[in-house]
Amino acid sequence: MPDGSVFSLYVLFFLSLFIFQQGASKEFLRLCYFPSWASSRPSPLASYGVSDIDPKLCTHIVYAFGKIDRDSKLLVPTTPLLEDSRPNFVGKYRLFNDIKRENSRLKTLLSLGGQNDDGSGFKIITESDIIVKRFAENAVKFLRKRDFDGLDIDWEYPTKETKRSFVLLLKALREAFDAEVANGHSKLLLTIAGPPGLYYIEPGYDIHNIARYVDYVNLMTYDYTTKNAQIAAFNSPLYSRKDMRFDATLSTDWTVRYWHDRGLPFHKMLVGITGVGRRLVLSNVNETEVGSDVTGEIRTGDVYGIPGGLVYPEICTMLNSIKTKRYFDYEQRVPYLVKGDDWVGYEDEESISVKIPWMMRLGVAGVMFWSLDQDDFTGKFCDDGKYPLLRAMKAAITKEIGPVSGEDVNPDIVFLTGHNQAVSRTNSIPLIYLCCCLHVAIVLFTCTVLSADGMFN
Ligand SMILES: *[C@@H]1O[C@H](CO)[C@@H](O)[C@H](O)[C@H]1NC(C)=O
Repeated sequence: MPDGSVFSLYVLFFLSLFIFQQGASKEFLRLCYFPSWASSRPSPLASYGVSDIDPKLCTHIVYAFGKIDRDSKLLVPTTPLLEDSRPNFVGKYRLFNDIKRENSRLKTLLSLGGQNDDGSGFKIITESDIIVKRFAENAVKFLRKRDFDGLDIDWEYPTKETKRSFVLLLKALREAFDAEVANGHSKLLLTIAGPPGLYYIEPGYDIHNIARYVDYVNLMTYDYTTKNAQIAAFNSPLYSRKDMRFDATLSTDWTVRYWHDRGLPFHKMLVGITGVGRRLVLSNVNETEVGSDVTGEIRTGDVYGIPGGLVYPEICTMLNSIKTKRYFDYEQRVPYLVKGDDWVGYEDEESISVKIPWMMRLGVAGVMFWSLDQDDFTGKFCDDGKYPLLRAMKAAITKEIGPVSGEDVNPDIVFLTGHNQAVSRTNSIPLIYLCCCLHVAIVLFTCTVLSADGMFN
């Protein structure tokens, strides 16, 4: 009889531990890039501004891109229009950061560098320890003044010569960000954009040391096939293809494992998904499968105007034609479409619903999306509401771990704060306390029962 009670109390104790564990499940981040230049696209249908942002679809939004001033060697506004430079004029930085009013849990970052930046600014600010320290300390003030929550370094790309400078920059920023926390703010976030292939990783990225200083690496796990491809291949496949004609290093799976093997823990990775598909031209309209010959001709989408690339809204338009056939490749887990001699490998709701659970099984911190303007943000192209890709990501996450953050507050979600310590904002302290009390009660009860048994036998 007493043994039974003890047993059931222990069951209760482990049950409460289990409930605590469940309550402490991690939030899966959704970091999205905001391309600040997209508001000046010629086509109004592809023109994207701050007012188009849905503040609840991402947990982090990154403003691309900021500017390093070559003379002062400091972070400066890209143009005066970004600042509240005149009375009654709201600059773009403030407009952008004001979206947090609609979602208090949203974080914003400013990104530096990017594809069209030659990296010379990064070289200048890492010329000496003093210059880089001054840059980092100034950056803290710059970001706080404009209500950013972090900085993203998108140096494309450090080389053998600047490999150490890159780590020096990250170290200086980490030290400045850590030193500032004493003032009671939550820590500024530090992220970088990481390339997908060996060609750039090998010479320029000291992954082990990068991992020491950054909160997250945004892995650019796309553009595996360039517009100059010889055969029909995917832009952002999940898995590599076994066929010998394909390079085994060209997949999300390969990139994630490579960064991990070289010292970047999964919990510091955000894995990239893009709205851009690769558009190639088949040599023979009757040979359409993956690996078929392509001509090398480069066609440009008529809404976004990317040579050799087709953005998801443009892909939807193509899919709406009865002449288009869509296929899903089960080896690499991404779709492609064929229309006449057009061959487009892309990303859609189906591939996202495979990639997200794959990421979550590995234990990465979240997903990165490049970029907000490349989803069907108007809902006019895909006949599936606004932002079908981002909503598919959110739905896939919800399916795995239950409701995810919008502004709807789920008290059970653990918040990732500062330098990657998972801290539960609510309930964990009372729960731990409850578990301890329960444990003490069980021990006392057991002792009492045992001594009572001893006395009566
Ligand atoms: C493709 O197939 C069709 C129907 O079988 C045939 O008429 C056409 O000549 C073929 N085209 C090429 C380029 O082989």
